[in-house]
Amino acid sequence: MKIQRHLPPTAAPLFFPDLMNGIAGLLRPAQVCANLERELKSYFGVRHAFLLTSGKAALVTVLNSMKARSSRRQIIIPAYSCYSVPSAVHKAGLDVVLCDVDPHSLDFDLAKLQAVVGENTLAIVTPHLFGQPADLKGIKAIAKTSGAFVIEDAAQAMGGRVGGQWLGTQGDVGFFSLGRGKNVSAGSGGVIVTNSDSMADALAVVYKGLPAEPASGLLANALTVVATKMLLHPLLYWLPAGLPFLGLGETKYSLDYPVCRMDGMRAGLLSSWRSRLEESNRCRIKTHQLFRKRLPSFAHIIDARPSDQSAYLRLPLLMPTAQQKAALCLIANDYGLGVSASYPAPISMIPEVASTHQSQRFPGAEALAARLVTLPLHCYVTEDDVDRIAMAVSRFPGEAEEAIAQGYKQTCVIAK
Ligand SMILES: Cc1ncc(COP(=O)(O)O)c(C=O)c1O
Repeated sequence: MKIQRHLPPTAAPLFFPDLMNGIAGLLRPAQVCANLERELKSYFGVRHAFLLTSGKAALVTVLNSMKARSSRRQIIIPAYSCYSVPSAVHKAGLDVVLCDVDPHSLDFDLAKLQAVVGENTLAIVTPHLFGQPADLKGIKAIAKTSGAFVIEDAAQAMGGRVGGQWLGTQGDVGFFSLGRGKNVSAGSGGVIVTNSDSMADALAVVYKGLPAEPASGLLANALTVVATKMLLHPLLYWLPAGLPFLGLGETKYSLDYPVCRMDGMRAGLLSSWRSRLEESNRCRIKTHQLFRKRLPSFAHIIDARPSDQSAYLRLPLLMPTAQQKAALCLIANDYGLGVSASYPAPISMIPEVASTHQSQRFPGAEALAARLVTLPLHCYVTEDDVDRIAMAVSRFPGEAEEAIAQGYKQTCVIAK
């Protein structure tokens, strides 16, 4: 464990008044939840919003509402994404169908999507990974050919816009995550949004049947919030980052999570969500622009549709080789640069999915798992940090093999 400035890969700070509002929310849950729902609908210009305990819970609820109205059972998801996505599909008792991605856009390979969609496709889940807007127009056109729904996974893209439209509001239904490292956080939490009245009717039936979260879950979330508030700052993050048993940043597939309605504490913690979201995304856009100026010209940033309105959660960067990714991650970890190796393997390699996709290969997803890193964009990242990260990245192309042979640290001197 090294005591030093250490950036988390993502961060959505909570402030002292938010904690107070969280406690106050416990006392009048119905009112704070109703306020939050109203604010979300007005801000995102949607007719319906539903509040849940996580993004996963939101996706499970959406899927259950669709399942109740159709005999179709297949859900198409990208072969490279967060492992929560296949876990939600399985938790809803549906079948995962994987489609490969284009490693240069992180989005579905549309030709492959067209080939995989069929008469048993209930829905296509389309994430805006790291905030990079997916091609909703193209995906919706393909979904239409088979009558499948489009679920817009804006877990990592709350507050991002494309062509003036909010991400999360363009599919049949969309959802946001309010988890620890997202654009705005309540410890954990999720929001479903839709403009479709029929979708909302089906959702309301499932939502009504959801339980409130048990006290143990509320307590666990309260502890997460307090620990996050204390330790997320770069001056203290070296402590949790140096404790491997915490498993920070690990990607796990798990079915063990509650699917519950949001409680008053989470809704209270979100009382200032609009200003926090706007400030958080303003920082991300500014830091993204700094990286664009400072990263060497050979760095392959994946921001195919950059615009003033694209608020990336983390900045995806495709390293030329897997060795260079490994070397950069090692150095970045040593110097506390907040670079993340992202998801370690394609979804086809998760044991719970592998059995149904044994003979299939997903070259785009494999390339991303091998070569993708993300750079931090959150509000704790300073210009100095951007310089240090850019310097670390610029050491690699051409030098990687030598660096690996000689031991990474000796070949890299990163200004502190
Ligand atoms: C793309 C994507 N979808 C869904 C989720 C699930 O959200 P949550 O962590 O709030 O359950 C995540 C979480 O990181 C995600 O990144």
